Amino acid sequence: MEVMWGRDGVWLIVVVVGFLYSICEGGSTSSFLRNDYLSLDMPLDSDVFRVPPGYNAPQQVHITQGDHLGKSVIISWITPDEPGSSTVVYWAQDTRLKRQAHGFFVTYRFFNYTSAYIHHCTIENLKFDTKYYYEVGIGNTTRQLWFKTPPPPGPDVPYTFGLIGDLGQTYDSNTTLTHYEESPTKGDAILFVGDLSYADDYPFHDNVRWDTWGRFIERVAAYQPWIWTAGNHEIDFAPQLGEARPFKPYTNRYHVPYKASGSTSPLWYSIKRASAYIIVMSSYSAFGKYTPQYKWVEKELPKVNRSETPWLIVLMHGPMYSSYENHYMEGESFRVMYEKWFVEYKVDVVFAGHVHAYERSERVSNIAYNIVNGLCRPLNDESAPMYITIGDGGNLEGLATAMTEPQPRYSAYREASFGHGILDIKNRSHAYFSWNRNQDGYAVEADSVWLHNKYWTSLEHASLATQRSNNLQQTATQ
Ligand SMILES: [Fe+2]
Repeated sequence: MEVMWGRDGVWLIVVVVGFLYSICEGGSTSSFLRNDYLSLDMPLDSDVFRVPPGYNAPQQVHITQGDHLGKSVIISWITPDEPGSSTVVYWAQDTRLKRQAHGFFVTYRFFNYTSAYIHHCTIENLKFDTKYYYEVGIGNTTRQLWFKTPPPPGPDVPYTFGLIGDLGQTYDSNTTLTHYEESPTKGDAILFVGDLSYADDYPFHDNVRWDTWGRFIERVAAYQPWIWTAGNHEIDFAPQLGEARPFKPYTNRYHVPYKASGSTSPLWYSIKRASAYIIVMSSYSAFGKYTPQYKWVEKELPKVNRSETPWLIVLMHGPMYSSYENHYMEGESFRVMYEKWFVEYKVDVVFAGHVHAYERSERVSNIAYNIVNGLCRPLNDESAPMYITIGDGGNLEGLATAMTEPQPRYSAYREASFGHGILDIKNRSHAYFSWNRNQDGYAVEADSVWLHNKYWTSLEHASLATQRSNNLQQTATQ
């Protein structure tokens, strides 16, 4: 019998087995069982939404980085009854010298809602790696809070970021935030990958839910910067309500230092923080060739000095690689535009949200396709970023549980549970990423991976190769 199969038969078996292997060899899909697919928003009278006591007391205090380097902080807060003061008094922990910075306030209307007074104040020329106290409000209703500036940018500066996306304001959102706060490796800043309050899921995009969200996150956001990315729930495009200017509540409430990186829009910008260079992109702004975002990213990527900030991180809302059925291929046009650059410039990791689940990819690229060559499968590529979807903050829309089957090869691990991530940068070559699911203890890692820096690792490989070839040449001439 075996002889009758002949050479062609053996090849046929090899091809069939190879094909089955190629479609089945994905990573792992968690078998973790959960019983809370849907999650309810916390009621308006929940303690986490409590209004601080006192007439016109500042509320919804949140901070973000205020410049490109990390020596400046934007402090934002809201006064409900009257404008009050936009001044911030601040001082370093090791000094009694109090300084003042003067900000401004804005208000906006959205259909039948009028915002209170939204203050933004940038404090500048801070010392690196220093704890600062700051005070907002006047009279008897001042509030004192604090933050810590990052160390100066440098290649081996350790730094820890939290990763949260699609947070909303449900009981699960509260669990996610608590787990982040209680984590033994709690971050020093949060990289937030979009979809903040989910106010637009309410009739008339009830902006009261933007206010409750601001009060909910204050317990973390007043003390460490959240690096903002806009998601689809920030668009608030409602021409039927007379609201046709996209991103109105978001851009009034959450300011970012976009001008410091030469951007013309708060929806895309970059910052340096310790050993990381973070590029924030907008999935819901024009991103095709010749658009302002495209032109900015085109100039931005070559500017990154990996000898100063080795870790190149990109944030966006819609994932470029996701194997969940929900939002399947929504990020495809973005991938077609930008993946080639991410590989060329050796981006270390791309974090996204949008899909309400967790997924981590292998290092793959899919950039060989040119319409006629048929090369349309993702391939292992050591120059490619790792893609991590972390849209599992816990919003009222629930989990994305349906997954495409079989699990594609590029998907290393996927699980539909709420949770948060921690990116712990150790030095120029190594960083550790871990993911915590809400059902586990604070210190439990449901998934983790070591990241080897794409720039420094490839340099090491290149120098090893050069060394080997020099050795060979020397041996040949001896
Ligand atoms: Fe989204």
